[in-house]
Amino acid sequence: MQDKIQLLRQQVEQLNAQSAEELEALRVKYLSKKGEVSRLFDEFKLFPKEEKAVWGAPLNALKQRFEARMNELREALQSKVNAGAGANSADLTRTPDPIALGARHPLSLVREQIIDIFSHIGFTVADGPEVEDDKHVFAMLNFAPEHPARDMQDTFFVEKEEGVQRPTDVLLRTHTSSVQTRVMADFAKQLQDGSATSLRILCPGRVYRNEAISARAHCFFHQVEGLYVDKNVSFADLRQALLYFAKEMFGEDTRIRLRPSYFPFTEPSAEMDISCNICGGKGCAFCKGTGWVEILGCGMVDPNVLEACGIDSKVYSGYAFGMGVERIANLKYRVKDLRLFSENDVRFLSQFESC
Ligand code: DAH
Repeated sequence: MQDKIQLLRQQVEQLNAQSAEELEALRVKYLSKKGEVSRLFDEFKLFPKEEKAVWGAPLNALKQRFEARMNELREALQSKVNAGAGANSADLTRTPDPIALGARHPLSLVREQIIDIFSHIGFTVADGPEVEDDKHVFAMLNFAPEHPARDMQDTFFVEKEEGVQRPTDVLLRTHTSSVQTRVMADFAKQLQDGSATSLRILCPGRVYRNEAISARAHCFFHQVEGLYVDKNVSFADLRQALLYFAKEMFGEDTRIRLRPSYFPFTEPSAEMDISCNICGGKGCAFCKGTGWVEILGCGMVDPNVLEACGIDSKVYSGYAFGMGVERIANLKYRVKDLRLFSENDVRFLSQFESC
């Protein structure tokens, strides 16, 4: 009896079934009435009392192990069948789950619309660095050496690091007008070798100012700068380009108004208002009852700036303008808090899905 139990104990651990039929065959072989385990019980019945006391427990344990093994094999087969069923039951004609598409950021939408509008009158995009130097952000743009814009309050200066060699006065650009100086210096060379005769560019980008963050101010925001340099460029050309832009951006009925202003890099300089696109110019809380809202600064490029870039100001003239992208986005979408533009809150951003 000992040997037989031993042998079956080894066999039970080796049992395997690849199908329900194989499993049933095993059950019959070992556990059916004529099965090998059952036959041991038949022998057991004939044992004398003392022997029964010895073999009762091991025989029962053997039978239980066989039953448990059968259950294990049945479960393994079942889970295999389930997995297969999943793969086979896929409905290949079913419409796929919709892919969740993100929304374009309102500032990207506005920036691209500005670029698109000006591209129709010949402007192309130019790029420049955000980490700049004093020369390109201020000096070449005719800012006096003591101009308050350089003040620590407005400009983020990049700190000097011991052992790191970099030019003095490295700073984060405070306006995209800095790109003008780089592009005009290149243009001056092109004029000399005859590879260009005029310049018409748009410089979109991020700018930085040392301002406390609030609903109405942020330490970084976005601008689009425009620049046109050619022979005989006039203030009337500037006005016409800006009127075209305002109508395209805010609607055909939009009127513009140019108010005299001052910027170091333009002469004369102006600020441009558009008729309030909320009340149509009648006066409302948004335009503080004036019927006008300011949207950009502009002017004729100061001859000093042309000369600083190597362009002969007696032959060439130009106009420039600069606008805040957030400002335009506010007017278009009525966003009251500037911080929403940089907080990545999907509840805000998803509202622009259809734009
Ligand atoms: N750079 C000015 C600013 O940041 C905006 C500006 C004004 C740009 C007049 C111009 C301009 O090109 O002609 O406030």
